[in-house]
Amino acid sequence: MFNRIGVIGAGAMGRGIAQLLASSGQQVLLYDTRAEAIEDALSFNRNLLQRQVAKGKLSEADFDAINTRMQPAAQLEQLKDCDLVIEAIVEILEVKQKLFTDLEAIVSEDCLLATNTSSLSVTRIAAGCQRPERVAGFHFFNPVPLMKIVEVVRGSRTDERYIQGLVELADKAGHFPAITPDTPGFLVNHAGRAFGTEALRMLSEGVATPQQIDRILRDGPGFRMGPFELFDLTGLDVSHAVMESVYEQFYHDPRYTPSFIAGQRVAAGLLGRKTGQGFYRYEEGQKIEQPEPAAETVLINRPFWLQSDDQGLRSQVAAVLQTAGATLENGERPSAEAICLVTPLGEDCTAALTRQQLPTARTLALDSFANWDKRRTLMRQPAADANVVAQARQALAADGVPVEVINDSPGFVIQRLIASVVNLGTEIAQKGIATPDTLDRAIQLALGYPQGPLAFGERYGKQAILTVLNNMQAVYGEPRYRPSPWLRRRVQLDLPLTTPDFQE
Ligand code: NAI
Repeated sequence: MFNRIGVIGAGAMGRGIAQLLASSGQQVLLYDTRAEAIEDALSFNRNLLQRQVAKGKLSEADFDAINTRMQPAAQLEQLKDCDLVIEAIVEILEVKQKLFTDLEAIVSEDCLLATNTSSLSVTRIAAGCQRPERVAGFHFFNPVPLMKIVEVVRGSRTDERYIQGLVELADKAGHFPAITPDTPGFLVNHAGRAFGTEALRMLSEGVATPQQIDRILRDGPGFRMGPFELFDLTGLDVSHAVMESVYEQFYHDPRYTPSFIAGQRVAAGLLGRKTGQGFYRYEEGQKIEQPEPAAETVLINRPFWLQSDDQGLRSQVAAVLQTAGATLENGERPSAEAICLVTPLGEDCTAALTRQQLPTARTLALDSFANWDKRRTLMRQPAADANVVAQARQALAADGVPVEVINDSPGFVIQRLIASVVNLGTEIAQKGIATPDTLDRAIQLALGYPQGPLAFGERYGKQAILTVLNNMQAVYGEPRYRPSPWLRRRVQLDLPLTTPDFQE
């Protein structure tokens, strides 16, 4: 396939790409304007591989073979016999354009020029070239050997055979090739925008603390890390820059609006692990865990009333109330004493109680999207009586499952976050940025979500997701939550979210 591959830029990404390709049997030449960077990268890779030998995961013979396949190049001209060159240099458009035009004078007519850019347009990088049809994106994730996915980005003029070449190379290296057209953020950095921006939005509205939001999203949908833990790991400066870049490139579409909170925290140096303080505190790289606050103990002297036809939820609530020594009323309407629990989809507690004409002091909301056995969410509104909140919290936690009390929010935490993820995923499918299968697989591999956006939609129910979005749009009066046509059509036609549109 490729006889010789040049990798330019021997930083974190370039060295990883060199190691991956050499390990999968390719001849690699590594070049950098700083000679010491090449040496550092090669010895870094040797150390990594040596550790695999020590663990018995790599034979001495394979170790030697891989090392022999990774060679330094002292001059750019030494890449002249390469049939693929991948650049992973600084993220500056003009510098990348110049590198590719310089390369065109060195390599053969047919040599494929690939860029590992994460935020620049592949088409714009190619636009400076004599043969833009041989330029494509080949976007890896850090650390390259462990993140088993690469985006294969088709620029506006990229020839299909080059795309196929990169797909085969990725397959051979054991990485999933996610083919995507050249659009802002490509596939992964685009799809990932919902998780962080919606979490920041909740924080800016005082819905819950970062710790609460993280706990609710780990224990509910099953994310390995909550959004604020993830910001701290990635570095808020990096995440905020991506949020701003995608927002700018989509001409300020409110789906992508970044948060002033992030901008300010970046200015303050609250970047996360690397500065020792982000949304959490770190000492010697270890997160300092704060214990969950204990709730005061109160006397439970009111019955409960639940607005829900869901028999499963009714019996779960009845069971925990029984453990607490409280009762669940069965009437159509609550008694004059009852604590009223509503279960809105996409409405806030205030809107739900107003619509249902329930007492303001005694009405709270329970999130039906929560994972009942792990963590429950109780939502209060400004008119709620504090003792009513305390009784409900205590009663609902009587079986030992923690209850998070949050402030009023259309869609609680889980509904609004999952609905945002599903909505953006379906919009990406609608725009042809990924096929349904590629979308879900890429998001799981690159972002570590327990499911892709379309699978999330099916898990929580696509009709419920659409209702959450419609109600959020109504409550906020904002186009940020407008449902994607892809989602609405598949709900109305009762088709799986993975159903593709017709193609010519
Ligand atoms: P880095 O700063 O670790 O390494 C860049 C290397 O390129 C340096 O060794 C530098 O000396 C060299 N370099 C700069 N200009 C050069 C030129 N004109 N010719 C030859 N060598 C040159 O950067 P990193 O993190 O490896 O990123 C490289 C590229 O990969 C960027 O385009 C970045 O956006 C992209 N990327 C980075 C990811 C990450 O997590 N770090 C993830 C995915 C893509």
